[in-house]
Amino acid sequence: MRLEDTFLADTFWKRPVTLVRGEGAKVWDSEGKEYIDCSCGYGVALLGHCHPKVVEAIRRQAARLITCHGSFYSEAREECLERLHRIKPEGTDRVFLSSTGAEAVETAIKLARKFTGKKGFVAAVNGYHGKTMGALSLTWASKYREPFMPLLEGVKFAPYGKADRAREAIDGNTAAVFVEPVQGEGGINLPPRDYLRELREVCDEKGVLLVLDEVQSGFGRTGKIWAHQHFGVKPDILCSSKALGGGLPIAATFAREDIMGALKRGEHSNTFGGNPLACAACAAAVDALLEDGLVENARIIGDRLKKGLSNMDSKIVREVRGLGLMIGVDMKFEVMDVILRSLKNGVIALEAGKTVLRLLPPLVLNSAEADIVVQTITGAIREEERKRIGAGA
Ligand SMILES: Cc1ncc(COP(=O)(O)O)c(C=O)c1O
Repeated sequence: MRLEDTFLADTFWKRPVTLVRGEGAKVWDSEGKEYIDCSCGYGVALLGHCHPKVVEAIRRQAARLITCHGSFYSEAREECLERLHRIKPEGTDRVFLSSTGAEAVETAIKLARKFTGKKGFVAAVNGYHGKTMGALSLTWASKYREPFMPLLEGVKFAPYGKADRAREAIDGNTAAVFVEPVQGEGGINLPPRDYLRELREVCDEKGVLLVLDEVQSGFGRTGKIWAHQHFGVKPDILCSSKALGGGLPIAATFAREDIMGALKRGEHSNTFGGNPLACAACAAAVDALLEDGLVENARIIGDRLKKGLSNMDSKIVREVRGLGLMIGVDMKFEVMDVILRSLKNGVIALEAGKTVLRLLPPLVLNSAEADIVVQTITGAIREEERKRIGAGA
C-alpha cells in the first residue's frame, strides 16, 4: 500500500484492501478475509476468478511462446480467431485485435472516419467509451473531458434512448453513432425496447455507421453473448474487451468486411494486439463460456439478485434495474458509504455515477452467494437509511 500510495500515479480512488487471491466468485485479501466479488475488476472476471480452463491455457502458452507480433502468423492467434468467429456479432466479418476497451473504441473511430470520409460523431448522454483522447471525446461526463480539451472535433451528444434526438444531431459531417446497448458507467441504464432498432433505421436512412460499444455489456453478461441481441439489431462495428480474455487484456473491434477493408496495411497497428498469451486466454474463455453453458446463468442469477434487491422496499432506493448480471441500485443519496459498508461486510460492489450502486458479478455466482449479496447490500442500505432518516434527511 505504501508504494502504491507514494510511487504510483495517484489516479485511482482506492479501497483500503489488498487483494491477493481469487477463485470463482470469491477473492481474498492479504489478511485472509473473504469477499464475494460483484466488481470482477470492473467486469473483467465474468467467468469467475482464475477459471481453470483459462489458467491452464495461460500456463501452457506461457511455456511455449509469449510474444508474437502481428507481422507474423501465430498458432494461438489462429485458435483465438476460430473462437471469436463462432461468437462474432451477426453482420460483421472481420476483427481487429488490441488490448483495452478504449483501444477497441479508437479502432472504431478510425474505421468510421476512414470508411465514410467524414469526421463527426454522435454519442449518447451518460455514455462511457474510455479515457484515451478519441474515446474520451465520445464519453459524456464533462469532469473527464473538460481538463483535456480540445478533443475530437464534431462530436455531438444526444439523449440516450431517444432515436429521434440522435437523428436531429446527425449532420452531413457525421461518420457514426456510438452507443452502449446498456449503459454501464453512466448508471446501468436500459434503453426503451425499440431504441436500438430505431437508431439502426436512423443510421441507415442518414448513411452513417452504427457502432455498438459492448466492452462492458458483451460476452454473456446480459444473458446473451451480445446485449444488442436482446433488441434485434445488427451493428456495423462492435467494440468488445473486458471479459473477453478471461482476465488477460484483449480487445476486439468487429466490423463489416467493406468497413474493415477501408484500413490499409500500416494505417492501424499495435505491438500487443493478438499476442499469443492473451489469445490463448481468450480462446479458453470462449470455450468456458460456451461449453460450461454459463450465459444462461446471467439471466437466472440476475433475476434472483434483482428480485431480492427489489424486495428491500427502502425509502432511499429509487429503482433496482438491469439486464442479466449488469445490475444497478439507484439511490436517492451518494452511494459510496453503502459500497464501503458492503465491502466491510464481505461483498465488493461498484459505483456507476454518484448515486448508483453497480453489480457486475461473475456468471459462476451461485444462488447461495447471490442471496448473501442481497442480504449484505440490503443491510448496508438499511443502515444508511437509519443514518439518513435518523438525521432528518
Ligand atoms: C462501455 C465501455 N467502453 C469502453 C470502456 C473503456 O475500457 P478500458 O478501461 O479497458 O479502456 C469501458 C470501461 O469501463 C466501458 O465500460
